Amino acid sequence: STIPTGFPEGFLWGGATAANQYEGAWNEDGKGLSTAEVVKKAEKRTDMNLGNITLEDIEIAIADKTDENYPKRRGVDFYHRFEEDLALMGEMGAKAFRISLAWTRIFPNGDETEPNEAGLAFYDKVFETMAKYGIEPVVTLSHYESPIHLTVTRNGWVDRATIADFNRFTETVFRRYKGKVKYWLTFNEINTGSFGFHETGAVDTGLSYDEQLQIRYQSLHHQFVASAIATKQVHEIDPEAKIGAMLARMQTYPATPNPADVQAAQVQDELNLFFTDVQVRGEYPEFMNRYFAEHNVKIAMADDDEAILKAHPVDFLSFSYYMSTVTSAGDSEADALGNMAVGGRNPYLEASDWGWQIDPIGLRIALNEMWDRYRVPLFIVENGLGAVDEIAEDGGIHDTYRIDYLRKHIEQMREAIIDGVDLMGYTMWGIIDLVSFSTSEMSKRYGVVYVDQDDAGNGTLERKKKDSFAWYKQVIATNGDDL
Ligand code: BG6
Repeated sequence: STIPTGFPEGFLWGGATAANQYEGAWNEDGKGLSTAEVVKKAEKRTDMNLGNITLEDIEIAIADKTDENYPKRRGVDFYHRFEEDLALMGEMGAKAFRISLAWTRIFPNGDETEPNEAGLAFYDKVFETMAKYGIEPVVTLSHYESPIHLTVTRNGWVDRATIADFNRFTETVFRRYKGKVKYWLTFNEINTGSFGFHETGAVDTGLSYDEQLQIRYQSLHHQFVASAIATKQVHEIDPEAKIGAMLARMQTYPATPNPADVQAAQVQDELNLFFTDVQVRGEYPEFMNRYFAEHNVKIAMADDDEAILKAHPVDFLSFSYYMSTVTSAGDSEADALGNMAVGGRNPYLEASDWGWQIDPIGLRIALNEMWDRYRVPLFIVENGLGAVDEIAEDGGIHDTYRIDYLRKHIEQMREAIIDGVDLMGYTMWGIIDLVSFSTSEMSKRYGVVYVDQDDAGNGTLERKKKDSFAWYKQVIATNGDDL
């Protein structure tokens, strides 16, 4: 058989965003408040807002009707500027554009029986505009947000009732956007639910680590079941559509060749891949039994949960990849899990200004490992460099560091394809600058398009092409040959 020579025909080049960091318009046209919209900007860049929210914080946020302290309420106004943004994507030649749906635009509180028509109509317009430019939507059903009403009334995903509410939302959107959306993703970076609130919508502050794990893994179990039910629904409603899992791939290396370090790194790896084991293979892997027993985690399952998981695995596996990390036997599991971005240092790698260690070869390794393990098509739906960009005297934004980062990662993707990996596409993260997930900063920018807004929300929101725009356009036009 022949060895591939480069990117396959029809490769899905494009960019990725998420409603809560991008849309703004947090209180327009009947939208309800989401979990992302109660999270404040981090005080320091190194503070990742990955949990630690209390019910009191939430009450204060609900009472606050401004966006001043909550940057994800304002995003960068995609809600009113989608035509301009999608025209830019069209000009770039993008084949795919990843967005997420805000559950709270369609079911403001999450537990209504009828959807909000204005919310559905907004995404109709977005998909029609994408079609005009020949851009394939890649749509995440849940990207780090759920209705805050469900947190307040039942602590979010820890309550099994949330499955039915979520699957009412998924059925509604599968019917509405049938034929318009070919690629769906269920839960963004589902593994980060092991950090808590932003994924699970469940508050677990003040509990012991094991008690937190109980809440988080129970919530995650409900998300696995909801994901399997969504998979069943979409296959029935729109047999042409494909649906994927979405993992934050944390490529882990042992700190030394000491077998104890190698074994510790393997544990980290298994804890990361556990999620896609469930979603791709349709069952919990044995190694989690020991982990759960050691942490007193007991997952409550309904009688047919295991059958549902087994019957409806995902069609493909998408993932984000930003960095790699290092594990040694001395690290406690709690540390390693809690420091997703700032794990052990690797002396061979440089890091971004936020401490994320840049590792293009790690992407090739990740692709090969996941292809070997799962044998389903892979899709890189996030990758990119968060950096401070400055407007130069000549008015341009000369982001050579970003071009360099993207080029090196795309080169390794190409190597993995030649290795034999089945890779569907690449949607780089935050193609148009948006609010950072982990710190809610605006100044942590990923885009090839600059957006004029600062951390405090000042600015015209004007869009401006960076140097990386023309570079990426050429990459797409040559299907990855001209890097
Ligand atoms: C991923 C998320 O974790 O990384 C995105 O899916 C996020 O929502 C991206 O924006 C980059 O992280 P950050 O914190 O730099 O915005």
